[in-house]
Amino acid sequence: MTLLRLYPPPAQACSLEGLYLDTPLAHATPDAPVVYSNFVTSLDGRVAVENHEGHDEVPASVANRHDWRLYQELAARADALLIGGRYFRQLAKGHAQAALPVADEPAFGDLLEWRRDRGSRPQPDVVVLSNTLDFPLPGSLIEQGRRVLIFVARSLITAERRDRLVAQGAEVIGLDSEPDAASVTHELDVRQVVRRLGERGYRRIYSVAGPYSLHSLLRHGVVDTLFVTQRLSLIGGERYQGLLEGPSLASPVGFSLASLYYQEAVDGGAGQLFARYDRRSCGDATSR
Ligand SMILES: NC(=O)c1ccc[n+]([C@@H]2O[C@H](COP(=O)([O-])OP(=O)(O)OC[C@H]3O[C@@H](n4cnc5c(N)ncnc54)[C@H](OP(=O)(O)O)[C@@H]3O)[C@@H](O)[C@H]2O)c1
Repeated sequence: MTLLRLYPPPAQACSLEGLYLDTPLAHATPDAPVVYSNFVTSLDGRVAVENHEGHDEVPASVANRHDWRLYQELAARADALLIGGRYFRQLAKGHAQAALPVADEPAFGDLLEWRRDRGSRPQPDVVVLSNTLDFPLPGSLIEQGRRVLIFVARSLITAERRDRLVAQGAEVIGLDSEPDAASVTHELDVRQVVRRLGERGYRRIYSVAGPYSLHSLLRHGVVDTLFVTQRLSLIGGERYQGLLEGPSLASPVGFSLASLYYQEAVDGGAGQLFARYDRRSCGDATSR
């Protein structure tokens, strides 16, 4: 698939395959692993809509195989995928995509090879943020040899739920948290999560979680790079679900455009823009 690179100049044609395998990610250190996230949205900025059964999902008219290819490339580069507990509740009810595989379709076999060539384990580990521990763990994750690390505020741990997840093969890690004036919950301090992951040798953390988790990651200043695919169609919907779910951020988090690619048409339908934004290193962002 050929794209048009719009930024940085000069504009030129380039191939979609390999685009996000090659894009340089920030240098990670043990103290500061790189955290990146990725969303696909409509032109009116919607990342999810309610389906006819009343469940939220990525809009079918927005998701597409070319964006999925880039999602997979970003996953191939990760030591760990980060997700929220709600995803596993949705998955158990059949309302979510598969349990976080990298490249289990033949078209993505090159990505498994790419990982192998770099000495990475076949699949990235899985990091779960949760306030509730109220979700079942998909057995496939442990069967694939992946570590599953679940972070929860210590004060919110329920022994019975913790023991169930541990029996399933996960590690449950309790962190200190403080009641948050801006939130009704003891929201996990994700800076601590990232720090703990760095101590364990994780360098690249790919957040595939939704708008609540992104809000939390941004609020704590730990997102380095945001990839946003914008499908060029307006879709509307009763309830607006954009990139962020949560109260207004105390200070805006500024980003710079690092790259922008244009695909004129997706399988005969509306085209899309693939943007990469890097968090500005100084100024209006919370620092780590
Ligand atoms: N278009 C896209 O690219 C895109 C990407 C991702 C998701 N989505 C859509 O967005 C919707 C919501 O996604 P989602 O539910 O997977 O994502 P989410 O909004 O990130 O998940 C929220 C859950 O994550 C846990 N969590 C997040 N941050 C936490 C923190 N700081 N402390 C403690 N727990 C934390 C909580 O789990 P517990 O409830 O277990 O406490 C919370 O309920 C879905 O419809 C999904 O399809 C769209």
